[in-house]
Amino acid sequence: MDLAYMAELPQEEFVERRQKVLAKMQTNSALLLFSEIEKRRNNDCTFPFRQDSYFWYLTGFNEPNAALLLVKTEQFEKTIILLRPRDPLLETWNGRRLGVEWAPEKLNINEAYSIDDFNVVFPKITENLTALYYAPELHLWGDKLLSESAVNFAEILDWRPIISEMRLIKSPNEIRLMQQAGQITALAHIKAMQETRPNRFEYEIESEILHEFNRHGARFASYNSIVAGGDNACILHYTENDQPLKEGDLVLIDAGCEFAMYAGDITRTFPVNGKFTQAQREIYDLVLKAQKRAIELLVPGNSIKSVNDEVIRIKVQGLVDLGILQGNVESLIEQKAYRQFYMHGLGHWLGLDVHDVGEYGEERCRTLEVGMVLTVEPGLYISEDAKVPEQYRGIGVRIEDNLLITEYGNKILTAAVPKEIDAIENLMQKNEQFLKM
Ligand code: GLY
Ligand code: MN
Ligand code: MN
Repeated sequence: MDLAYMAELPQEEFVERRQKVLAKMQTNSALLLFSEIEKRRNNDCTFPFRQDSYFWYLTGFNEPNAALLLVKTEQFEKTIILLRPRDPLLETWNGRRLGVEWAPEKLNINEAYSIDDFNVVFPKITENLTALYYAPELHLWGDKLLSESAVNFAEILDWRPIISEMRLIKSPNEIRLMQQAGQITALAHIKAMQETRPNRFEYEIESEILHEFNRHGARFASYNSIVAGGDNACILHYTENDQPLKEGDLVLIDAGCEFAMYAGDITRTFPVNGKFTQAQREIYDLVLKAQKRAIELLVPGNSIKSVNDEVIRIKVQGLVDLGILQGNVESLIEQKAYRQFYMHGLGHWLGLDVHDVGEYGEERCRTLEVGMVLTVEPGLYISEDAKVPEQYRGIGVRIEDNLLITEYGNKILTAAVPKEIDAIENLMQKNEQFLKM
């Protein structure tokens, strides 16, 4: 098995990342980071294994029950991995292991030991070191191993600020993978539009999306897909996906693939029967207007907060124009009257995790920089029991794209899936023709 191929990233990139972390560590310190373990779903069945994103970022190694140790002294810097040893019987039952012997060469790491020997190896390697970089409570199995090893350090430091900042700015190789994740996710949303019709169940559309991810080389979704017909769209994290889609309703789909460990995250909202009603069109146009303005403004030097303030202004003005909110725009913003219809943020960092790591600054005031990737996802959610003109009730709309911040502004990684009303209706019109054949 070629790990470099699996990673879709050159081995050198993982080596460079470790070197960069080592350069930021103080002398006479170690950094300890644990992998994910298998999680039980029920009885002896497990969820599909997904590596911890930090561990992956520094190793490209996809097995459970492993630990990475970086050591920095006056004399040397070295990288050590502790991993599951080879075991022919267990491997026959549960799958192959890289093992201690091959790990240094395959992973470009100085030394490897069995994770079963952590209690012996860790105290020995860290003898005479003064500081340990560690992030407690990420992996309880790791916390337990560490406490059982009974090693004391003068100083415990958190490695998350160092590694999270590195993950926030994407390298050219990462950008290539994220473009691919965006592209595959876009194809799946197009497929969803083509396959949607009244009376299909939400999960049938979900399965079309997952199939499209798989067809293009993305084995998993990067989070549980949301396929929410009608009023279900007003439940932000609706994932039951078990209802039939109704004629005359909108459907909101929030789904993203995971390609080579990197996440896509797109939302589109469109009519189940392929044609927007007047009220749906009005709400949709307002969200689209806000989203397009946000994309113009999400450029180096601006912050998510400053752009979201503009989005809120556009939405409140629009809601007043439609008679959904009453009063003066400034005071409605002041009173946060829009919160009943727009109760989440404008977007988040995107990367190995769908809600990726990296500081946002107070109230998301952090200035955008070249190489960051984030989502832009304004929405409006008017539930069935909202006290608003009747035609607007039960309409939930979100439009979400993924942006790479560039020196010229930004690049939309998910532009391949339509969001203009005409383009969606044209695409879905073909569904009807297909049906009548
Ligand atoms: N799909 C999760 C989100 O949009 O934040
Ligand atoms: Mn998102
Ligand atoms: Mn999303």
